[in-house]
Amino acid sequence: MSQLFGVIGDPVAQSLSPLIHKGWMRDHAIDADYLALQVAAGGLDDALETLMRKGFKGLNITMPHKLRALELAAGLTDSARTIGAVNTLWRGAGAKWQGDNTDAPGFLGALARLIDVPLAGQSVLVIGAGGAARAIVYALDSAGAQIILANRTLEKAQSLLAAYAGKRHRATSLEEGLAQCQSVDFVVNTASLGHAGQSLDLPPGAGKLFYDISYGPAAALILAPARAKGWRAADGLSMLVYQGALAFERWHGIMPDVDKGLARCRAVLEML
Ligand code: ATR
Repeated sequence: MSQLFGVIGDPVAQSLSPLIHKGWMRDHAIDADYLALQVAAGGLDDALETLMRKGFKGLNITMPHKLRALELAAGLTDSARTIGAVNTLWRGAGAKWQGDNTDAPGFLGALARLIDVPLAGQSVLVIGAGGAARAIVYALDSAGAQIILANRTLEKAQSLLAAYAGKRHRATSLEEGLAQCQSVDFVVNTASLGHAGQSLDLPPGAGKLFYDISYGPAAALILAPARAKGWRAADGLSMLVYQGALAFERWHGIMPDVDKGLARCRAVLEML
């Protein structure tokens, strides 16, 4: 029987993960299937039990289940524990789910394609302090960058940074953060504005990198005005593909071709 993998989320029908993983499975002649599994909030406990029984070897976890997956995993990597979220599960010894978070290294891999200087010592404005920002802050901190974390609700930025006490990072309001855009080395947006049809009021960018972790139509709403203001604006598709590649490597022991995965995703998004 072919091996089973999948992504669990709600909504999940729009997920690019099946396209990404099936493409790589074909590339490497791996006899496996990868399914999109729609599971509503509150349903993860039962789903993980059922999928373990059915012999699933690995799962990607997306919204709204990343926090519950952390609680349900029998074992965790240090990064998943620090970030406080799991996006990748694999079948461990004794038929127990083990959890990792590949969003942080996936983000760093994506960034390395865009920035050719070491991140250590770079100053970065991170916008947003929700669940997605946790992996970004963890990644940038572990790479030695200095972070200004700007959020509409200042207290959330402060509480996210509480885990990094003693570092030179600082929390600001969204307005103050935007006012400092031009004095940092680059900007990362994690705030889910585009999904609500909103944009960011950025000052001129003068060729600096503006990386938005979203992709598709939601990202376009933010990236188009950013480009018009002179920012070198990039969407988060590369991060999605990289975190998928790291999950693939964990499950199959092979690092797949990120560029091929990215090209397949871009081709599909262009049709939307
Ligand atoms: P995610 O997992 O995508 O990070 P989240 O945990 O709900 O989702 O966090 C959403 C982030 O986008 C938060 O930082 C949120 O700001 P608040 O903490 O003030 O709620 C930010 N965000 C969402 N809509 C926004 C808007 N219209 N303006 C500014 N920030 C917004």
